[in-house]
Amino acid sequence: MSSETLIKLSGIVYGYPGRPVVLDSLDFILGQELVGLIGPNGCGKTTLLEIIMGLIKPQAGTVEIMGRVCSEEKHFRPLRPQIGFVFQDANDQLFCPTVADDLAFGPLNMGASRQEADEVVRTVLTNLGLEDFGSRITYDLSGGEKKLVALGTALALNPKLLILDEPTNFLDEKAVTRLEEIIRTLKLPGLVVSHDLNFLNKMVSHSFRLENGRLTEV
Ligand SMILES: Nc1ncnc2c1ncn2[C@@H]1O[C@H](COP(=O)(O)OP(=O)(O)OP(=O)(O)O)[C@@H](O)[C@H]1O
Ligand SMILES: [Mg+2]
Repeated sequence: MSSETLIKLSGIVYGYPGRPVVLDSLDFILGQELVGLIGPNGCGKTTLLEIIMGLIKPQAGTVEIMGRVCSEEKHFRPLRPQIGFVFQDANDQLFCPTVADDLAFGPLNMGASRQEADEVVRTVLTNLGLEDFGSRITYDLSGGEKKLVALGTALALNPKLLILDEPTNFLDEKAVTRLEEIIRTLKLPGLVVSHDLNFLNKMVSHSFRLENGRLTEV
């Protein structure tokens, strides 16, 4: 595997218990680029991202992230803070009482001081255009606001790689434009799942379609 390779999946097989396989001997290599992942509802896009993040374990195949073979939780754990992962459902990602707590959680967990974490929270909120949201109750936010804050929790860790599951979901036009600016500025490699082809066309170098459990370049 070249040093440029960030993700390498080989022969990945995954099926939920009692269901047909979703991923069927899937191969994928991600270098230093941002690529799109498309495919119909239920084809397995989120499942694939969860395998890359080590949240579910494939029944066969190997996962290599940043040059390391990851087969157990202990292999994934040190890598996760380097990956900006945005869940499809922001409710799965946000669990603190306030927006500022959610944004500070990652940095504090990684050993930042309170002051450093507060600074990160301020910067991220400003970048997202949510300056006044720090003390808001996360649970009470709108769908789009939650999605932006979820993106913020990923950015708060200064990731090296982005894994975004439908980042434009619930976002209005202005928020999508802001998201595009943020992603453009970050210039990070990664994988973006989206049904928004207009957004993908602007953001990614190329895309893959997931169909019948495998990827083909579009
Ligand atoms: N926990 C689960 N238990 C059983 N089946 C599941 C589970 N999660 C997902 N599935 C099924 O696995 C298939 C793939 O689901 P997945 O969420 O990966 O699709 P997706 O491509 O992300 O779809 P969407 O575009 O709707 O987000 C679907 O048929 C779904 O119903
Ligand atoms: Mg999905």
